[in-house]
Amino acid sequence: MRLSLRFIVPLALALAAIAYAVVPLVDQLTLKWFMRDLEIRSTLIAAAVQEPLQELVLGGTKAKVLRFFNKMTQDERLYAVGFCDAAQGRLVTTQAFPPDLNCKALDAFLARPTHLLPSAQGPLHVSVQGIEAEGESLGRLVLVHDMSFVQRRSEETKRYVFYFFVGLGAIVSMITVIIAQLSWRGWVQGMRALLRGEGLLRPAERINLPELRPLARDLRTLIRDLETEYRPRDESQITWSPEALKRILREDLKGEDIIVVSNREPYIHVQRGDTVEVRRPASGLVTALEPVMRACSGVWIAHGDGSADRQTVDRNDRVAVPPEHPAYQLRRVWLTKEEEAGYYYGFANEGLWPLCHIAHVRPTFRTGDWNQYAAVNRTFARAVQEEARTNAPIVLVQDYHFALLPRMIRELLPRATIITFWHIPWPNPEAFAICPWRAELVDGLLGSSILGFHTQFHCNNFLDTVDRQLEARVDRELFEVSYRGQPTAVKRYPISIEWPPSDDVMRESVEECRSRVRRRHGLGPHHAVGVGVDRMDYTKGILERFNAIERLLEIEPRWIGTFSFIQIAAPSRSSIEQYQDFEVHVRALALRINARFEAGDCPPIILKVEHHGPQDVYEHYRAADLCFVSSLHDGMNLVAKEFVASRDDERGVLILSQFTGASRELPEALIVNPYDIDQCAAAMHVALTMPLSEQRNRMRLMRGLIQEFNVYRWAGRMLLDASNMRVRGRLMTAETARSAAGR
Ligand code: F6P
Repeated sequence: MRLSLRFIVPLALALAAIAYAVVPLVDQLTLKWFMRDLEIRSTLIAAAVQEPLQELVLGGTKAKVLRFFNKMTQDERLYAVGFCDAAQGRLVTTQAFPPDLNCKALDAFLARPTHLLPSAQGPLHVSVQGIEAEGESLGRLVLVHDMSFVQRRSEETKRYVFYFFVGLGAIVSMITVIIAQLSWRGWVQGMRALLRGEGLLRPAERINLPELRPLARDLRTLIRDLETEYRPRDESQITWSPEALKRILREDLKGEDIIVVSNREPYIHVQRGDTVEVRRPASGLVTALEPVMRACSGVWIAHGDGSADRQTVDRNDRVAVPPEHPAYQLRRVWLTKEEEAGYYYGFANEGLWPLCHIAHVRPTFRTGDWNQYAAVNRTFARAVQEEARTNAPIVLVQDYHFALLPRMIRELLPRATIITFWHIPWPNPEAFAICPWRAELVDGLLGSSILGFHTQFHCNNFLDTVDRQLEARVDRELFEVSYRGQPTAVKRYPISIEWPPSDDVMRESVEECRSRVRRRHGLGPHHAVGVGVDRMDYTKGILERFNAIERLLEIEPRWIGTFSFIQIAAPSRSSIEQYQDFEVHVRALALRINARFEAGDCPPIILKVEHHGPQDVYEHYRAADLCFVSSLHDGMNLVAKEFVASRDDERGVLILSQFTGASRELPEALIVNPYDIDQCAAAMHVALTMPLSEQRNRMRLMRGLIQEFNVYRWAGRMLLDASNMRVRGRLMTAETARSAAGR
C-alpha cells in the first residue's frame, strides 16, 4: 500500500503538472517561435522580390505580375500572394488569397504589418511589406502563409513533451521509492539496527544472529573512539584559550557539564551598610579556576560565607556569576558555625594545612574537627548529586578541604569522572603519618579518577604515602594506583593563570601605575619600590622577607630612604590563634624595621593588612621594581605568575623562593632560599640594580612560559585526560562483557 502510494503520488503530480502547466506553455512557445520565423521569412521574401516586382509593376501587365506570384506560391508554405497598387488602389492576387482582404482592409495593417487570420483550413499568417522605387511607394505586397503546419508541429511537440514528462515522472517516482526503501527500511536502518546490536532486519523480520552482536559492539566503540581520536591530541599543538576548553567539552566530553567543588567561593556578597558589595577573595584557587569556569559554564559549588550571600541566591541556593556577565552558576552550601569551626578552621587549617606545608607550625588534630570534616564532605557530596544532570558528570574537586569527597561522590555516582586537584604540597610519608586519619584521607582521595598535584615531587610523595598506608597496587611507570578495583591516575598539572590577563587589570599604563602608587604613599617619582602580595599566612615567609629587607638596608645603606617595600597582606583565617599571633609578629617586625631605618617620610616597609581587589593588586605589580615571593613552602604560588603577566613592559624583577612550585617553571627569576636572609638581601640589591636589558631578557622568557602554559592548558590537560579515561573505561567495559559472554 505504502509502496504504491510512494509511486503513484509523484506520478500523478507529474501528470497534473503536464496538463496544467507544461502543455499550454509548449503551445504558446511553439506559436511564438513559428510566428517569429514567418515574420523573418516574409521580410526575406519581400526583399528578394523587391526588384523584379518593381519592374513588373512599372512596366508589365497584371497577367505578368500574376504569373510571377503563382510561381512564388509553388513554395508549399506560401499560401497566397497579393499586391495592392498604390496609384490605382487595385489588388492583384493569387487564387487562394483571402477574399476579405482588399486594399482598403490592408490600411488597418499599417500599424502592425503581421496578422493572424482565421480560415476554414486553419489560421493564416498575413504579412504586409511596402514596395518602393526611388523613394516612392509602388504599393503593398501581401504574403499569406499557411499556419496549419504550425498546428501540426505543435501537436507533435505536445505529444513528445507528454511522453517525456510521463517518462520523467515515472523515473522520479522510481527513484523516490528506491531512496525511501533504502533509507527507511534498507541498509541505513539495518546498519543502525546492527549498531544497536539488533541485527540487520526490521524487528518483525529479525533473524536472531548472536554472532553479529560482538561485531556490532566493536563497531560502535570503534566509531566513538575514532570520533575522539581524529581530533588534535597533541596538547602542544593546541592554542590554549577559553575556546579551546569549550571545544574539549563539546567534542571530547560530548557536552558534559562541569561541576566544580571548592570551599572558597569565587564571589562573596558582603553587606556594607545599606548596600551589598561583591568581593573577589584572595585565593590562588579562585584566581585559577574562575576564568576556567567562565569558559566552561556549569556549576561551582562552594561554601557561602559572605554576610549577604543568602539574600542573593535563588530558591535553589544558586546565583549566576560573574555579576556583570553571568557565565556559570554558583551554588552555595550553608554551614553552621560549628561545622565551619570544625571542618574549615579546625581539621583543614589547623590540621592538614600545617601538616602538608611543614612550615614549623605543629598540626593540631581533634576528633571533633574530624567528625565535622567528614560531615561537611558528606554535605558537599549530596550537593554534587543534586547538581549532576547526568549519572556520569565531570566533577572537579578542589583542595585539602575535601579529601573524603571523591570517595563519597563515587559511592553516589559510580560513573562520574572525578578529577581532584590538591593545591597545596603533599608531604613525605613520614610527615603525613602523624595524622590519625591518614588512611581514611588517602582512601577518600583514591575515589578520584585523576588526582593532580602541582609538581612531580608531590606526586611521588603521594605514591609513597599510598604504598605505606594502604593495600593498593601502585604502578610507578604509569603513575597509577589501583585500589578497590578502581584506578586513580596521579599526575602533575602545574596550575597557572589566565593569559592574556584581563583588560580590567591592565587598563592603566605602567607609567600611570608607577606614579599613582608612589604618590599615594608619599614617595618620590624615582623612589625604588618592591611589592609582596599574600594572605596573612605563616607559610608565606613574610617575616623572613622583612628580615631580608632589614639586612639589605644594613649592608647597602644607599637604599635607606630610596627604597620601600609595599606588603599587601589580606587578612586570612583570623579565628585561628596561630594566624592571630602571626599577624602580631608581622606588624611588630614592620614597626621595628621602620623605626630603625625610617628616613623622612619614606618608611622601608609599608604594610597594608587589608583586602585588595584584583585591580589594586595589578596596579601595585605594575608600579613595582621588584616583587618578592618568599614562601617557606607553597604548592605553586600564583602571585609570582601574576607579577610576570602584569609586566607587559618587560621590566621588573621577580625574586622567588625555591620552595614554591613556581620556581620549577620560572628559573629566570632570582631564586632564593627564604631562610637565607643574606642571600635574600643580596637578591634584592641585584634586582634593584639589574640593567634593563637583563630585566627584559628574563621577563621575556618567563612571560613566554606563562603564555604557553596558561590556566586553560592546566584545565584542558585534565579534561583531555578525563576524556581519554572515559574512552578507555568504555573499551574495558566492552571487553569485560565480551569475555563474560565467551565464558
Ligand atoms: O593556595 C592554597 C589555598 O588553600 C587555596 O587553595 C585557597 O584558595 C587559598 O589557599 C586561600 O585560603 P582560604 O580559602 O582558606 O582563604
